[in-house]
Amino acid sequence: MFQENFLNNITLELEELKAHGMYKNEYEIISAQQSEIEIFHQQTKKKLLNFCANNYLGLANNKSLIEIAKKSLDDYGLGTASVRFICGTFDLHKKFENKLAEFLGYEDVITFASCFSANGGIFSALLDEQDAIISADLNHASLIDGIRLCKASRYFYKYDDIADLEAKLQQAQNHKTKMIVTDGVFSMDGDIAKLNEICDLAEKYQAILLVDDSHATGFIGEDGRGTAQHCGVEGRVDILTSTLGKALGGAGGGFVASRKEIIDKLRNKSRPYLFSNNILPLVASVGIEIIDMIDKSKSLIRKLADNTMYFRRKIIEAGFAIHNAQGVHPVVPIMLNDAVLASNFAKMMIEEEGVYVIAFCFPVVPKNSARIRVQISASHQQDQLDYAIESFVKVGKKLKVI
Ligand SMILES: Cc1ncc(COP(=O)(O)O)c(C=O)c1O
Repeated sequence: MFQENFLNNITLELEELKAHGMYKNEYEIISAQQSEIEIFHQQTKKKLLNFCANNYLGLANNKSLIEIAKKSLDDYGLGTASVRFICGTFDLHKKFENKLAEFLGYEDVITFASCFSANGGIFSALLDEQDAIISADLNHASLIDGIRLCKASRYFYKYDDIADLEAKLQQAQNHKTKMIVTDGVFSMDGDIAKLNEICDLAEKYQAILLVDDSHATGFIGEDGRGTAQHCGVEGRVDILTSTLGKALGGAGGGFVASRKEIIDKLRNKSRPYLFSNNILPLVASVGIEIIDMIDKSKSLIRKLADNTMYFRRKIIEAGFAIHNAQGVHPVVPIMLNDAVLASNFAKMMIEEEGVYVIAFCFPVVPKNSARIRVQISASHQQDQLDYAIESFVKVGKKLKVI
């Protein structure tokens, strides 16, 4: 039974979050995930242009993929009703894993229900108390939590400070195995890890390199092979983790790509793989097609890059400060630096302009760096980009940001 104090304290905490502009409201979407969506708000339906989904390639509502998903539902049913090693491995899982491995240039791939699960189960399966993890300070929560579940010693380096990484590698020198862990793209900033320098250090100090490429797989790099391709270090990232919940269709799921023996160990020792259902058969069957689509045509990757550079240029010209003005990633953080201002800005964009954007405040981003994180998609049309830019200008002037 709950004690009254326990619930009262929670209520106070929630009030505090609201007072500081840190409370998370959820709008209910009543359409498919795409560049124009419909939500249910204040008892009415409202159309919004969507600028905050991870739907980078715009595949979340792709009609030919949906037909493939329907066929898979007919052929394989709803789901696995089992973990992989009991009776939850379908031929589709294996086909998809092989396809992904080939696309990304690895010996093997293992899928998980999510990338959060993949990251949660990888470190404790591979490392022990004699080992060390050297982790970028801005890494995603799932890496942080996964690392916490492992007994290896932990060192942290500033994500873009290569000298700091080297200093931490020197401190960790006496550990049996050392693993450098970094996001390929830091999702709050759109910053791309300096993988060429990180690879050099990994080789110099004989450390394994693990990269979480959730915000890169499928669209960063000339062929969408991710951060390693963008940085010219393909073949030098030892372990890659990533998600199916963003560019690769958005349905959900995660995976690890690496050498055969690493993947085999994860199949036998990674707890979220052993004790949780895997991706749905329909996700695997759609995934196979998505990899083919990306491999055959670069048009979506190019459209996304063009949309991104157009939006970045226009929003800077309008007078907004964006994090890393030289950046190329479709995550475009418009810096407002004040949590209340940022959440008011997002609310006005949604309610007055019909443009769905979200404010990010502490603790998701560092204190005093509140921002609106715009995310560009290949499915955004020119008029939608222009409308969003005009709306930013209108609200920016009203709130005296520009
Ligand atoms: C860098 C990074 N890693 C992992 C995840 C988790 O992905 P999933 O939704 O597949 O659990 C995310 C999602 O926000 C992410 O941004």
